[in-house]
Amino acid sequence: MIDLPVVQTPQNGEQTAVDAEITTATGGRTLYVETYGCQMNLNDSEIVQSIMNKSGYAIVDGPDDADVILLNTCAIRDNAERRIHERLKHLRYYKKRKNDLVVGVLGCMAERLRTRLLENEKLVDLVIGPDEYRKTPELVDSAFSGEKGLAVKLSRVETYDDITPLRTEGISAWVSIMRGCDKFCTFCVVPWTRGRERSRSLDGIVTETRHLWDSGFREMTLLGQNVNSYRDEDKDADFSDLLAACAEAAPQMRIRYTTSHPYDMSDKLIETMAAYDNICKYIHLPVQSGSDRVLQLMNRKYTVEHYLERMQAIKKAMPHCALSTDIICGFPTETEEDHQMTMELMAQVRYDGAFMFKYSPRERTRAWKMGDDIPDDVKTRRLNEVIEQQQNISREINQAAIGTTERVLVEGPSKRNAAEWQGRTDSNKVVIFPHNEHSGYIVGDTIEVAVERSTSATLFGQIINS
Ligand code: 5AD
Ligand code: SF4
Repeated sequence: MIDLPVVQTPQNGEQTAVDAEITTATGGRTLYVETYGCQMNLNDSEIVQSIMNKSGYAIVDGPDDADVILLNTCAIRDNAERRIHERLKHLRYYKKRKNDLVVGVLGCMAERLRTRLLENEKLVDLVIGPDEYRKTPELVDSAFSGEKGLAVKLSRVETYDDITPLRTEGISAWVSIMRGCDKFCTFCVVPWTRGRERSRSLDGIVTETRHLWDSGFREMTLLGQNVNSYRDEDKDADFSDLLAACAEAAPQMRIRYTTSHPYDMSDKLIETMAAYDNICKYIHLPVQSGSDRVLQLMNRKYTVEHYLERMQAIKKAMPHCALSTDIICGFPTETEEDHQMTMELMAQVRYDGAFMFKYSPRERTRAWKMGDDIPDDVKTRRLNEVIEQQQNISREINQAAIGTTERVLVEGPSKRNAAEWQGRTDSNKVVIFPHNEHSGYIVGDTIEVAVERSTSATLFGQIINS
């Protein structure tokens, strides 16, 4: 998964899609959910909001007016958990102001720390793991009567297939198609926090796709820790079949997915992507390292040669397909030579973007037992080197876009300047363009933008039609 700090900013676009009927507060209680970590967590928060809304809670978009505050957390690296501990310290202020405030921790950190969270963070009333969200209303009710709640069982079957996530803003929807991971990369805590792989039904996802289009959504991202493992046994369908079925169910909807594992990046999937115009030509394919020795220690199950061969197959079928990756710096025993191999691989592939991390040891994983022998200053230096190289490559790729015309899906006002709006290209690049009341486009429109300027992260241009 792409692991991004998720900030839920309300969009003030003119037209945003709403996916479910929302119960509004009529003297009832209010809920605020704050989401950290990956996009799967964002979708999980929408599932929790849906469950709680059905039980009469009105959803509010800040902690000030909330009777219940739930933090949906990430455990992938130590710094993600440290952020949550800091946030919990801040929440003491709200608890002091409002004695009966209920505070809960959801998600991967809840699953990992379980009772330790209740014992060490006195403020926390509830700890709920990713497969137990159906219990949230009853546990919150008990918390109002002063009982602490813990629900952290992992399930082999829970997919929340029957729950329509409560999406209240934007035109882009996250859609989880499967949960859990069976890959057991040696650095990764996810198999322990999210349990075994299981998939939703193809019919359920296709119905949701149609419903999203009818509700005004214009882009959807199919989510899974490892989407290539998707299977609907009844229909004998794999991920490529699902992707094709979604593309056909909503032919104007932009369809994305994340994350693929390089080991299972099949020819069939590449052909399916190439065959449908509305499947975005963008692939996030985490490589993690450019050294076969390190890849083997990581239990990634592919070699650099295999990875590069898959990249060639992608570029052959879709010459303009954008690519991004994840890189870990300072995995146990990583030598300077291994690091240089990662640098070379990145220079050879020339990714459009990359998510780059310092290795963070996680309890229970196999890498935990390998020790954490790379000193922090070495990890930092290597990380800075890969970041700098990637920024240069991204800048060069974006510079080459100057003078081209991009089809852009309009998302709404840009974060920095009210006189500008932003959108995204099919290849997932952010594009900024001018906006005023005569601009003639609204959120969700697809417009053409002539690119005039760029940075390593963003394209800037003028609208040439709308
Ligand atoms: N330390 C650093 N990065 C990690 N990732 C997963 N586990 C760790 C860890 N222990 C990174 C991987 C993965 C992304 C979601 O997070 O690059 O692809
Ligand atoms: Fe973690 Fe590997 Fe599964 Fe991704 S594929 S969630 S990195 S175990």
